[in-house]
Amino acid sequence: MRPTTLGDLLDEAALTLRGTTPAEARQEAEELAARVLGDGPAGLDRERVLDGRAVRRLRDLVGRRAEGVPLGHLTGQAAFAGLELVVGPGVFVPRVHSELVLAAGRESVDGVAGPTVVDLCAGSGAIGLALAHHRPDARVHAVEFDPVAADFARRNAARRAALGDTAITVHEGGADRAGALTGLAGAADLVLANPPFMPDTAEVPDEFGRYQPRQAVFGGADGLRVVRQVVEAAAGLLRPGGVLVVEHGHLHGATVPALLRESGWFAEVSCRPDHEGWPLYSSGVRTTS
Ligand SMILES: C[S@@+](CC[C@H](N)C(=O)[O-])C[C@H]1O[C@@H](n2cnc3c(N)ncnc32)[C@H](O)[C@@H]1O
Repeated sequence: MRPTTLGDLLDEAALTLRGTTPAEARQEAEELAARVLGDGPAGLDRERVLDGRAVRRLRDLVGRRAEGVPLGHLTGQAAFAGLELVVGPGVFVPRVHSELVLAAGRESVDGVAGPTVVDLCAGSGAIGLALAHHRPDARVHAVEFDPVAADFARRNAARRAALGDTAITVHEGGADRAGALTGLAGAADLVLANPPFMPDTAEVPDEFGRYQPRQAVFGGADGLRVVRQVVEAAAGLLRPGGVLVVEHGHLHGATVPALLRESGWFAEVSCRPDHEGWPLYSSGVRTTS
């Protein structure tokens, strides 16, 4: 019988994985193979003959990924805005969509020297750490209430600081306590947030419904329980003219902008789409009232 090569298994894996595109499936298969073989994806040799143990291990990882286990929970890492972050079971794996939230936030503090920034619902710390990486003059606070996730955020913060990024401060606690935790009142230039926003009864893919932490995905009966906390907290944290950018997904393309406008705390409210044109996040500028 012909020996099994890495190329055979990568082809098999790409068929098994239900990525949104064949290119994504192939990339995920390569990342899993890199995890098994200890090489970077770029160093993979398709002609390499795999022993039985490596074949079983790679097939097991591919099978778990096909069931919906997040790729980051299998590889232990996630890329976000040019950073490699440590992730694992118990913490939300950052999504590429959230890079648009980061980009909007960065744009809003373009002309602000030494901006003060708060990342609410920080998870692994992805958004706050990426902001600190791209804006070394920023003072960044990350707020996360789940102890497991906060631990990942602290680990990532320590790693990024060791690599030379400006250190960020991770606060463990709820978004509703962000003012007390950070000591900021009317002083932040920017609040970024990617809170849980799915209604509790929404049907979501297993990746989100079974494998990502429940408190990272579901936000009460209408999905907006934590979003409301974020809006209120941001109103207290931001200086007049400071900006809130909050991710909320396609279900809330009308409700969250309305929430911001009706609060009376935000003007210049707008909702922006993701790469496919679905509502993704809203932003508003803190009023003086
Ligand atoms: C969708 S995840 C986003 C994580 C990270 N910002 C990212 O983009 O990858 C939402 C995060 O909010 C946290 N969270 C949920 N409710 C919270 C609350 N009331 N206060 C603070 N964090 C909360 C969850 O534990 C989870 O880590």
